[in-house]
Amino acid sequence: MSSTPHERESDALDSPSPDAPGELFSVQWVGDIFGRLDLLDQTLLPLELKVLGLRTIESVFESIVMLRVRGAPAIGIAAAYGVVLGLRPLLDENASLAETAQAALKACDYLATSRPTAVNLFWALDRMRLVVERNAGLREGVDLANLLLREARLLHDDDRRTCHAIGEYGAQLLANNSGVLTHCNTGGLATSEYGTALAAIFTAQDQGKALHVFADETRPLLQGSRLTAWELQQRGIPCTVICDSMAAQVMREGRVQAVIVGADRITARGDTANKIGTYGVAVLAKHHGIPFYVAAPRSTFDLSIVSGDSIPIEQRKAEEIINGFGKQTAPSGINVYNPAFDVTPAELITAIVTERGIISPVCEEHVRAMVE
Ligand code: MRU
Repeated sequence: MSSTPHERESDALDSPSPDAPGELFSVQWVGDIFGRLDLLDQTLLPLELKVLGLRTIESVFESIVMLRVRGAPAIGIAAAYGVVLGLRPLLDENASLAETAQAALKACDYLATSRPTAVNLFWALDRMRLVVERNAGLREGVDLANLLLREARLLHDDDRRTCHAIGEYGAQLLANNSGVLTHCNTGGLATSEYGTALAAIFTAQDQGKALHVFADETRPLLQGSRLTAWELQQRGIPCTVICDSMAAQVMREGRVQAVIVGADRITARGDTANKIGTYGVAVLAKHHGIPFYVAAPRSTFDLSIVSGDSIPIEQRKAEEIINGFGKQTAPSGINVYNPAFDVTPAELITAIVTERGIISPVCEEHVRAMVE
């Protein structure tokens, strides 16, 4: 599929202020099968709250690649709606069921090439493919489009419930009057709403627990300082931003009693891919005797692989490191390595929190018993 400039395919809608965002959403479908996908452009936070109205599959693809929408569950939800947008040209032409089915499968294949690591993307697209495969007996293409939109809405709604359940289980692990360190962003922005690791913190706050959160800034794209700090501030949760390299010192000073992070892909034995830097935090937590928790929905588990070595790690452009946010910070022509994720081995993970309960100790038997 050809990619056309983002601007021509989306409208910038009236957007609230970052200081008073109102009801926060990462993505939201508006209307019927001829509708649009509203998406909060996360690259502009915390300075600007801009909602984009996406009307083409190419603009959804571009938004995932550019991290306008990001976080494993949110990517999956956006892609599911993206499949529906991919059918628009056919709907306008009253295409047959066979043509619509073929276009839907092509849309799934296309969106699957946007980012490689978060398995939620492939999980969501597989659900969309299944709708196509199971409905070969429909009368018209428009009927299939309606079923695909229903499926996208279903998995969006499921994620809402999932996040709140993860919050309930995760909050049990966080003690009153404790310091909690987190890495990257795992809140409402990264999911349908509420979040995974941050959901545990939000729920603990709702239960009356006093927590102080240390948010790693999360180089190179600063999801921690731009997004996590912003979400925590919105909820009035005390938060201190630190450079990633400060985590060891903050732990040594006794300020952190638990670490909780999200995940992009968890293998059958519990090895966990998450934002680059997570592995280092887990090693530090082990050294300092601090529990290290991962919070993720079942859609983040990939039981087809056992070892974390098999997880594909996204490599991103050098510019993110040496020219991030408009300022060159390294000599021109220098070599750069920019893996977007790393893998934390199961041995370093104290527990994994899912919507079904808590996996601990983390091993293949326990993972399969909880997730399968
Ligand atoms: O590159 P990103 O910002 O999409 O990476 C996101 C993360 O690593 C999150 O920790 C993970 O997706 C969990 S989101 C609930």
